Amino acid sequence: MANPSLLILPGDGIGQEVMEQVKRVIGWFGDKRGLAFDVSEDLVGGAAYDAHGTPLHDDTMAKALEVDAVLLGAVGGPKYDDLDFSVKPERGLLRLRKEMDLFSNLRPAQCFDALADFSSLKKDLIAGLDIMIVRELTSGVYFGEPRGIFEEGNERVGINTQRYTEGEIDRVARSAFELARRRNNKVCSMEKANVMESGILWREVVQKVHDEDYPDVELSHMYADNGAMQLVRAPKQFDVILTDNLFGDILSDCAAMLTGSLGMLPSASLGAPAAEGRPRALYEPVHGSAPDIAGQGKANPIACILSFAMALRYSFDEGTEAARLEAAIEKVLADGARTADLMGEEGGEPISTSEMGDVILAALDASL
Ligand code: IPM
Ligand code: MG
Repeated sequence: MANPSLLILPGDGIGQEVMEQVKRVIGWFGDKRGLAFDVSEDLVGGAAYDAHGTPLHDDTMAKALEVDAVLLGAVGGPKYDDLDFSVKPERGLLRLRKEMDLFSNLRPAQCFDALADFSSLKKDLIAGLDIMIVRELTSGVYFGEPRGIFEEGNERVGINTQRYTEGEIDRVARSAFELARRRNNKVCSMEKANVMESGILWREVVQKVHDEDYPDVELSHMYADNGAMQLVRAPKQFDVILTDNLFGDILSDCAAMLTGSLGMLPSASLGAPAAEGRPRALYEPVHGSAPDIAGQGKANPIACILSFAMALRYSFDEGTEAARLEAAIEKVLADGARTADLMGEEGGEPISTSEMGDVILAALDASL
């Protein structure tokens, strides 16, 4: 049987350097666990724009549709701020999400014991925190038409459209309920049904999917603004949060920061479950390209490495190996390994991106 295939798109800024460490980890699983992948690499974002004048070349898009999973670093940077909207680095990522039809974006917010002091919240509020945000990723205001900046009388008007079909809500709701069944069996759905028709429809459809097919899962609904408040007031009340594209973007940054470092969190973006074979999938860290520290060997590679762990679990059915990798990361953190973003008040010297890679590989070796 052919090896499963991975397309690596490091992208911009720290995307490059964190992905170097992920490649070492992928190599380790090939050498030591007999899990060999056919890995290819290509450009996305600003890097693709510099080479081809587009943030995602058609050939790269075609490759992404063929492989078993895509691993992405980060896109964007100040160098590209003045580019036309249609060729901004972010458009490359949005095109991947849209054309791969990756409608279900899983963003875990998990608090590592060793880092509980890093949260801006009191330790007892977040110790042991384990939330999964399921964000709709291919529709809503990110893609709705009409959109644009138009002339109206003697001034301009900026327009974006929040648009959801029943089918789009239905499928992402199902993925949240399925996930909840494998966790603590609770879903809280967030929208703004008090001011938006799309929110009213969202609530109705989620409730219907629940009543028809997932009555065993505990479902609640919350307005997204209250959800943001509850996330910082008492985050442990949540298990799975289901929400739309824009609210999900905002709430997931908020949830991520609760855990102490955005540099720690992975994500998975999944398409429809395939009848045979694997659903389309893209894995990426939640952090961005961090241009301020790019190229200095300071970046924390853990979020990107944990994204590969999610790939092992969700694309390759290797939950045991994913858990091995996650445990290795918990071990190095417990042992005090800290990149610059994880330096607390106790001081000490941070280690570099590649040194973090070294200790994680050593912990993996020790797990054998
Ligand atoms: C995210 C990012 C993206 C988004 C950007 C880079 C387009 O903020 O993945 O959360 O807004 O979806
Ligand atoms: Mg975001």
